[in-house]
Amino acid sequence: MDTPFVLLCSRCGHIESVDVPFWCCPICRAHWELRSDHYAQGLPVEEDKFGVWRYRQTIPVPGSAGIVSLGEPSTALTAESVANRPVWFKHEYQQPSGSFKDRGATVLITMARHLGVDRIVADSSGNAGAAVAAYSARAGIACRIFVPASTSEGKLRQIMAYGADLERVPGTREETAAAAVKEAETAFYASHYRHPLLLHGVKTMAFELWEQMGHTVPGTVVVPVGNGSLILGLYTGFKELIARGIMDVLPRLIGVQSRNCSPVVDLFHHQPVKDACKPTLAEGIAVTRPFLGEMIVAAVRETGGGMITVTEELMEEAFRQAWHSGLCIEKTAAVGPAGVRAVIESRVDVPDPILTVLTGHGLK
Ligand SMILES: Cc1ncc(COP(=O)(O)O)c(C=O)c1O
Ligand SMILES: [Zn+2]
Repeated sequence: MDTPFVLLCSRCGHIESVDVPFWCCPICRAHWELRSDHYAQGLPVEEDKFGVWRYRQTIPVPGSAGIVSLGEPSTALTAESVANRPVWFKHEYQQPSGSFKDRGATVLITMARHLGVDRIVADSSGNAGAAVAAYSARAGIACRIFVPASTSEGKLRQIMAYGADLERVPGTREETAAAAVKEAETAFYASHYRHPLLLHGVKTMAFELWEQMGHTVPGTVVVPVGNGSLILGLYTGFKELIARGIMDVLPRLIGVQSRNCSPVVDLFHHQPVKDACKPTLAEGIAVTRPFLGEMIVAAVRETGGGMITVTEELMEEAFRQAWHSGLCIEKTAAVGPAGVRAVIESRVDVPDPILTVLTGHGLK
């Protein structure tokens, strides 16, 4: 690690070193932030490696930790066109378990094994659960995943096939989270939205973009938002590139949600957040009360970006177009391109180049 990080409690200011097994502050139970007062300058790159661990020096795990990896690639970046405007697509469904969540899981499970953990628990609407199950299997650690009973069958089969113990929880996504938190009293909680280490895996996508785009970053980044690990991970990465003296303007971050389930859009526009969501094709981001909602809104505002909704029809159309151009993505992953179309057609002036992330694989 070339930059010193500590875990800082977001409420009471309690500090711990990064290598403790607590997923929240042991004093007041608020969530951690991973903080550093000092960043080394420049981006250290291990030239012979790909993907997340190419940036190992920037990742807050002890240097002595053995990496738990499934050979994460640097994912493809392709030049596409949406509504006649050039747009970059980042192909994150190419990750080992089929979604960008692997970037976080490889880092968190590396830390779990370093800490000698023997049981991991997580809650997920599908992809994060599959990622945690895959890396737990790789590390030889027992794993239990709580999912909402409504999760699609393909993702559940994937989680079970990795040998994880699957618990289907009736009710909302929040009830699933509550069941996992209870279990976390006796196991390591690999939460993809409460544990800040996850964001330090996802942040490597920003570093990879900077390298792939010839040492520049997009003007505008349009991504789906559920619990916020993607958008906050990218924000963490772009902020770190600034702190490391590499660039000076944050890309504008635009978060996209389904019109049927848009709590962060409501928060952003100071509207009351609805108690329930309507059914949506975008099951991966159907989160009624995202734990980090206010943090997402603050990050998006800081970049001069925004939060928008897309209709089910627009998502369906973007999904069809993606497959008809050979891209094997899941429906939730069509939210990004659908959001790009909505932004372009709204005629709001956003800086080029525009980029979106294809987040999950279509064969789940
Ligand atoms: C396919 C897909 N895209 C996007 C997201 C959004 O990620 P987040 O919940 O971290 O905002 C998820 C989350 O599970 C997902 O599964
Ligand atoms: Zn605290």
